[in-house]
Amino acid sequence: MAIPQNFIHDLLNRIDIVDVVERYVPLKKAGANYEARCPFHNDKSPSFTVSRSKQFYHCFGCGAHGNAIGFLMEYNGMTFPDAVEDLARSIGVTVPRETSSVAAQRKVAPDLYEVMQTATRYYREQLKQSPRAIEYLKRRGLSGEIAARFGIGYAPEGWQNLEAVFPNYQDASLVETGLVIANDEGKRYDRFRDRIMFPIVNARGQIIGFGGRILDQGEPKYLNSPETQLFEKGRELYGLFQAQKAIRAEKKALVVEGYMDVVALAQLGVEYAVATLGTATTPFHIQKLLKLTEQVVFCFDGDTAGRRAAWRALENALPHLQDGKQLRFLFLPPEHDPDSYIRAHGKDAFERLLEIESLPLSAYLLGELSAQVDLQTQEGRSALLEHAKPLVTAITAPATGLLLRKELAARAGVSQDELEGLYKIQSLGAHSRRAPPRAPRSGVSNARALLRCLLFKPELAKTLPDGWQAEESDAATALVAYFQGGDEIPRAAVIIQQFHGTAHAAELAAAQADILQWGEDFDVEAELLGLLEKQQEAARKQQLQALQAKGLDGMNAQEQALYRQLLSAVKRLDVLKIKV
Ligand code: UTP
Ligand code: MN
Repeated sequence: MAIPQNFIHDLLNRIDIVDVVERYVPLKKAGANYEARCPFHNDKSPSFTVSRSKQFYHCFGCGAHGNAIGFLMEYNGMTFPDAVEDLARSIGVTVPRETSSVAAQRKVAPDLYEVMQTATRYYREQLKQSPRAIEYLKRRGLSGEIAARFGIGYAPEGWQNLEAVFPNYQDASLVETGLVIANDEGKRYDRFRDRIMFPIVNARGQIIGFGGRILDQGEPKYLNSPETQLFEKGRELYGLFQAQKAIRAEKKALVVEGYMDVVALAQLGVEYAVATLGTATTPFHIQKLLKLTEQVVFCFDGDTAGRRAAWRALENALPHLQDGKQLRFLFLPPEHDPDSYIRAHGKDAFERLLEIESLPLSAYLLGELSAQVDLQTQEGRSALLEHAKPLVTAITAPATGLLLRKELAARAGVSQDELEGLYKIQSLGAHSRRAPPRAPRSGVSNARALLRCLLFKPELAKTLPDGWQAEESDAATALVAYFQGGDEIPRAAVIIQQFHGTAHAAELAAAQADILQWGEDFDVEAELLGLLEKQQEAARKQQLQALQAKGLDGMNAQEQALYRQLLSAVKRLDVLKIKV
C-alpha cells in the first residue's frame, strides 16, 4: 500500500534534517549551515553541508545530495518506505497507508514501481512452492538467507501466470515494466517463464528490472528485463543497493560479470561486489563507483569474452580516473568465474588473489599493449607508442597520466620529454583539423542563475506570468509549473522529493548547492529582474533579426511598426549598457 504524497510532504516539513543527520554524523556549525566530513566518500576536508533553513544536504566533494529521507536511504541502505517509517516514528506519528483503490483514483496508471514490487512478491512466493527451483538453488549452494537478501524468486511455467496476480492483465503498466509481452496480434503473455528471478534494485531500493535464469540448459541462459522507464542497463549495477554499505566500509568495490557471482560472493562474505547487467562497464558505472570509494577492482572471467570486457572497462575508465583513486584488474584462471572460485577455494583465497594477483590499471594497460608488439625492434616500439597514444592522452588525472607516460617512455626506449614532444606535435596537428575550441563559459549560465533565484525564493514564481517558459532550461520551466500549480510554497526538501528520479534532478541539485552560500538577505528580486530583462532583450533581438531577414519591403504594415518599436527598444538598452 502506498504512502500518501501529502503525508510525505508534511513529514518533511515537520522534521529537522540536522537532527536526523546528527544521529549518525557529528555536525559542526559553520555560518548558517552545518558541516562535516562527508560520510559518502573519503573526505579530507568538511565538504558535507547541511542546511537547516532549506532542509537538505549537499556534498561539494562527491555531489551527494538529498533531503532527510534520501539521507537515511543512502546512509543506512534503507528502502524508501522504511526511511519514511523511521522519520515518522522519530516525531511520534504513524504512517497512513492508502488502500490501492484510493491510490488508483489518485493516479490513473498504477505506479510502475508498485507493479515490480507486486511481481517480486509473487515470484518469491512461487519459489517457496517449487521443490524443483529450490533444489536448483541448493545445488548451486545458495542459502535461504542469501536468497531472501537478494529477493530471489521463481517464475513458474505457464504463459499467463501474472493474470492471476494483477487485477488487470491488459493494463499498459505490465507491458511498460517488461513483465508482459504483447505480440503482433495483441495477445499477451508473461516474459519470464520457468526461470529463477533476480530482482534488479536501484540505489533507492526500488525494483526496476529482473534477470531470469533458466533452470536447465537452454537459450538464452539469462533473460533480462528490457530497457524501460525504470530501467536503463548502462546506469545500473546489480547488487549495488545491497553492497553500498560494505563498499564504504571496506573502501573498495568489486565489479564482476554475473548475478550468481554477486550472490555467491556475498554469501561467502565478500559483500562489496556488484555486476554489470550483460553490458559493458560504462563510464557512468565507473563514475558511480568512484564516487563511493577509492578502489575499484574488475574481476572478469579468464576467457576471451572476459578479457574483452576488461579492456572495454579500461577504455571507458581512462577519462574518469582520479589521482589518489585506484582501478585494478583481476583475471581468474580460465576455468573459473568468481562464483566457482570462491566456492572452491573460500573467501580468504579469493581475497588473497584480489590482493596479490590483481594488476593496477597502468600495469594492465602497458602489459597488454607490449604483448602485442615486439619490443626488441624499433618498429615494435614505434607501434607501442602509436597504440598507446589515444589511451594515454584520454587520461585527464594529472599525476596518473604523468606516471603512465613516464613508464611508457621507458618501455619504448625514449625519454619522457621525447614522448611528450611526440604526442604534443601529433595532437597539435590533430587539433588544427578539428573545430576551434569553444569559448569558455563565463560563470554560471543564465538558466542556472534563474533556477537559483527560484529555488532561493519560490514565491517569486507567482510573479511570473502563467505559462511562462524559461529558455534553455526545462528544469526551470518544470519548477515554475510545479510552484504555480500548488497553493502553498514547498520547501527545498519537498522539491527534492518531487523531482527525484526525473530528468531535472541533477540540474536542480546543482542550483540548490549554489544557494547554500547565499545569505538570507540576498537581494534575489533584483537578481531575478535582471535575468528576466536579459531574457526579454534576447527575445527582442531574435525577433528583430527575423524581421530584418525579411527586409523592410517584405514586411506588412504591422510588422514594420513592430520593427521600429523593437529597434528603438534595443538601441535604448544598448545605450544604457554603455553608460553603466
Ligand atoms: P555467464 O554466461 O558468465 O553466466 O554470464 P554466469 O554469470 O556464470 O551464470 P551461471 O553461473 O551460469 O548461472 C555472465 C552474465 O552475462 C549476462 C548475465 O548478466 C550473466 O550474469 N548474460 C549471460 C545475459 O544477459 N544473457 C545470457 O544469455 C547470458
Ligand atoms: Mn557462473
